[in-house]
Amino acid sequence: MTQNEREVAEKTFVMLKPDALERGLVGEIVARLERKGLKLERLETKRLSKELIARHYAHLVGRDFYGELESYATRGDVIASIWRGPGAIAIVRKLVGATDGAEAEPGTIRGDFALGGTENLVHASDSPEAARREIALFFGDAR
Ligand code: PPS
Repeated sequence: MTQNEREVAEKTFVMLKPDALERGLVGEIVARLERKGLKLERLETKRLSKELIARHYAHLVGRDFYGELESYATRGDVIASIWRGPGAIAIVRKLVGATDGAEAEPGTIRGDFALGGTENLVHASDSPEAARREIALFFGDAR
């Protein structure tokens, strides 16, 4: 990374959801982000409470699928992580692919490994504001 790239590097929050761990896809997903050139800054296995999930998905509480999302996200361990690199937020979203695995392009993580909408393996921040909020929520004062 050049000096300029380091200066514009941004951070994003990535969560590997319980199905990623259950299916043994952690190494595959982490490897894809690393091979792209992104730097792994923090990584921690966590079991999420319903309260933390409700804060993380605050904009979705009350949606008809929220109950399903809550059970899915709390049924097993997740891996919370912070990744850094120039344009990291948009790049990770591209590598992850569309929300619904059935529609995600082949070559993306969801396109290659997910079949449907609920069990889609990965969450990744969709904006700088979301990245800051999610990093603070999962890692306290880590910036
Ligand atoms: S929105 O508001 O509908 O446009 O939301 P979207 O960006 O499509 O999805 C936001 C997160 O909700 C998850 N999601 C679902 N979970 C369970 N069941 C259903 N039907 C469902 N639809 C959307 C979706 O995976 C997104 O989670 P993250 O972790 O942010 O990718």
